[in-house]
Amino acid sequence: MSVLFVDLVGFTTISEARDSEEARELLSRYSELARTLIKRYGGTVEKFIGDAVMAVWGTPTTTEDDAERAVRAALDLVASVPELDQALQARAGVLTGEAAVTLGAEGEGMVAGDLVNTASRIQTAAEPGTVLVGDATRRSTEQAIVYESAGEHELKGKAEPVDLWRALRVVSARGGSLKSAGLEPPFIGRDRELKLIKDLFHGCANDRRAHLVSVIGIAGHGKSRLVWEFYKYFDGIVQQVYWHRGRCLAYGEGVAYWALADMVRMRAGIGETEDASSARPKLSAMVERYMLDAEERAFVEPRLAHLLALEEAASGDRQDLFAAWRLFFERLADASPTVLAFEDMQWADTSLLDFVEYLLEWSRDFPLYVITLARPELHERRPGWGGGQRNFTSLYLDPLSERAMRDLLEGLVPGLPEHVGEQILARAEGVPLYAVETVRMLLDRGLLVHWRRCRASRRGSWSRCFRLWCARRC
Ligand SMILES: Nc1ncnc2c1ncn2[C@@H]1O[C@H](COP(=O)(O)OP(=O)(O)OP(=O)(O)O)[C@@H](O)[C@H]1O
Ligand SMILES: [Mg+2]
Repeated sequence: MSVLFVDLVGFTTISEARDSEEARELLSRYSELARTLIKRYGGTVEKFIGDAVMAVWGTPTTTEDDAERAVRAALDLVASVPELDQALQARAGVLTGEAAVTLGAEGEGMVAGDLVNTASRIQTAAEPGTVLVGDATRRSTEQAIVYESAGEHELKGKAEPVDLWRALRVVSARGGSLKSAGLEPPFIGRDRELKLIKDLFHGCANDRRAHLVSVIGIAGHGKSRLVWEFYKYFDGIVQQVYWHRGRCLAYGEGVAYWALADMVRMRAGIGETEDASSARPKLSAMVERYMLDAEERAFVEPRLAHLLALEEAASGDRQDLFAAWRLFFERLADASPTVLAFEDMQWADTSLLDFVEYLLEWSRDFPLYVITLARPELHERRPGWGGGQRNFTSLYLDPLSERAMRDLLEGLVPGLPEHVGEQILARAEGVPLYAVETVRMLLDRGLLVHWRRCRASRRGSWSRCFRLWCARRC
C-alpha cells in the first residue's frame, strides 16, 4: 500500500496575520481540496492532524496503480494549494510498502506502523512546494513520473540513511503507456489553461452537461500538447472516461467527417487502413457493447458503418446520419463522461462543424466534453465558432513568455551553452515548436551532443547535460 502525507507551509504565519474567521475558512477550503483530489485519484483520507493530511491507497483492495495514483495526487495537491492563497504552500511525502491494517475499522487509525511514521518524516524533509518519495515508490512509478534524486536523508527512528526522490512531473498515461519516445520538453507556462480544461471537465461530468472548449492558437503554440497533458491527467484518476481523438485532414483532402470517423474507429479498435471484412465485426461488437437497445442498435450501426465508409447504401439524409451518430455518443455518455477532442479544426469541413454544433445543441444534457483545437483561420471559415452555444469556453494560446521559454529550453537540453540558448530564444519568439525543432535539428546534425551524465548537484542528482559539438558551426 502507499501512504501520502501532506502538510501546509505558511499557515501559522497566515493565521497570526489574519483574523481567525478568515484563517478557519482557508483551512476548510484546503481540507475540501485535499478530500476532493485524494478521492479523485482513488485514495482514502485517513485523518487530518491540524493542517496535515494523511491518505492511503491500496486498502481494502490493492491495485497496481496505487503508488502512481498517490504520487499523482501529491503532485496535483502541492500544485493546487498556492491557488487557495498565494502565501500558502504544501509539501508531501509518499511511501510504499507493507503496513498493519485493521480491517473493518473505518476512518481513524485504520493504518498504523512504521510505514506511516516514515511517510510523515519524508514529508518533513520535503521543501515547500515539492513531493518526496521513498525508493520503492519511485521504482514502481518511474515509468510514468520523472524523479530527481533528493539525496540521502537521516530520518528519525531509522538506523540507516534513506534515499529519497523528488517527483517532478507526470510524463505518460497510466503505467507508462503512450510515453513520447522523442525528446520532449517539460510542460511549461500553461498551468492556468490546463487547470481550466480540467475544471470544466469535472463541471461537465458532475453536472452532466455538454461543454465545448475551443482552443485557438497559431501553429506550434501548444494546442495538441495541452490536450495531451489533459489526457495524462484524466487517465490517472479513478473515474472512467471515454476518450476520443480525431484529426481533420488538411483542407482539400475532402473526407468530410474524417475526424469523427477517427473517433469511432478508436472506440471500436479499428485501424485506419483495416479492410471491411475485419472492421465490420469490430464495429458490431462495439455497438453491441455500448447500446443495450436492439432497435437503437439497428438504427445506429449501419449509419456508423457509413461514417467509416464500410457501407455505401443504407443511409438516409444528413439529419438522419446526425441523429444516429449523436445517439451513439449519448449512449457512451450515459455510461461515463465522454471526451471528443478534434485536432486541426481549421481544416474541418463545414459539415463536421455543423455536426459538432448539432451535437452540443441536441445532447446538451449529457456529459459530453468536446474540445476543438484550431489555428486562428478557423474563424475565417466559421466566424464566432462556438459563440452561440450555451456551454462554451474559448481559450486563446498566446506565445509563451520569455521566462517560460527559458525554462522550456533548460528542461529540454540542460546545460545548453548560453549564447546558443539566447539565439534560439530570440528567433523562437515564444513559439515552443520552434525551440523544440531547432534543438532536434542541432541534435540530428550532430551539432549538439549529449556531453556526459554529470553530477548536477552536490547530493548527486544525475541529469543529462548537453554541449555544442562545434560551437562555431552554429
Ligand atoms: N507549454 C509547453 N511546454 C512545453 N512544450 C510545449 C508546450 N507547448 C508546446 N510544446 C511543444 O512544442 C511542440 C509543438 O506543440 P503542439 O504540437 O502542441 O502545437 P500545436 O499548437 O498543436 O500546433 P499545430 O497548429 O501545428 O497543430 C511540441 O513538441 C510540444 O511538446
Ligand atoms: Mg496540433
